[in-house]
Amino acid sequence: MTNRSTVERRSPIDEVAVPESGEYYAAYGHQSESARFVPEHLLTLLPPDIQVRTALDIGSGTGISTRLIAGRFTGSRVFALEPQMSMQDQARQTDPPQVTHLSGAAEDLGGLDLPSLDLVVCSSSIWHMDRPRLFQEIARRLTAGGRFVFNIGESFIDLPDVVLAPGNRKYLTELLRAGFELGMNLPDPREPGAVQAGPRPKETIDSLTRTINEAGIDVDSRDLVDQSVNLEESRAWMAIPMYTHSLPGLTPEQCRAAAETALSRMPSDATITTRWLMMCLVRRDESAD
Ligand SMILES: C[S@@+](CC[C@H](N)C(=O)[O-])C[C@H]1O[C@@H](n2cnc3c(N)ncnc32)[C@H](O)[C@@H]1O
Repeated sequence: MTNRSTVERRSPIDEVAVPESGEYYAAYGHQSESARFVPEHLLTLLPPDIQVRTALDIGSGTGISTRLIAGRFTGSRVFALEPQMSMQDQARQTDPPQVTHLSGAAEDLGGLDLPSLDLVVCSSSIWHMDRPRLFQEIARRLTAGGRFVFNIGESFIDLPDVVLAPGNRKYLTELLRAGFELGMNLPDPREPGAVQAGPRPKETIDSLTRTINEAGIDVDSRDLVDQSVNLEESRAWMAIPMYTHSLPGLTPEQCRAAAETALSRMPSDATITTRWLMMCLVRRDESAD
């Protein structure tokens, strides 16, 4: 799955040891209608009359979100920022000429040749990023009245009325079963230094909003949206190395095999649901006060 150019070109994300995922992500994107669900929904949060001359897509991946931005704002310059070379390699094959590809991390735009931005989009990427630094960086780059849209899922933020959907429950049960069959060993919580079991504290909508406001931007609108995906789409997503669930004591290949086995044991019409918080932020025009 790896070509020569991917191996030879070092990616900034090497430093944080995220496995290159481009070809798997492209396979997911080709196969799955649902890959466009989030970026399409994010663009509906924008004011219908917004004027966009410059846009930045951060964590642009294989270009699914970038191409939607470019298609909606045809006369604009669109910058696509992506640290993984294997993702960028896929994007360059299909993105239109109005797109400029950049390598780097969204929390550090300083060294990049970017104009002021009317629109920043972060589609299904923000949980990889240091959010306080990111919001500050974006606030500095947005034009007055400029918008920043992003989504974040229930795994990372406390959202109201989340219930474990039957498909999600079945998948988690089957994943644990398949993991144990492959020799997964949960660490003994009594061992010194063992990570305590139980849910980790999550960010809340209020704490996220405070971080946003401290950076000098405001929430313009927000939406809670449920996305259900079928088993084929889930299979393609969970095969992407950076999104395969990691199970203690198993190699990455075994983790992928466990996910595959879990999905094969699900009823064929099952779906897996994610609740997203989608936000549209605005940098107010202070001169208008
Ligand atoms: C799930 S993909 C989303 C791709 C695309 N936006 C879409 O909607 O299909 C997340 C992307 O975020 C990128 N990413 C991770 N950390 C990042 C960072 N600190 N700055 C910019 N991009 C990052 C990953 O390399 C990955 O390609």
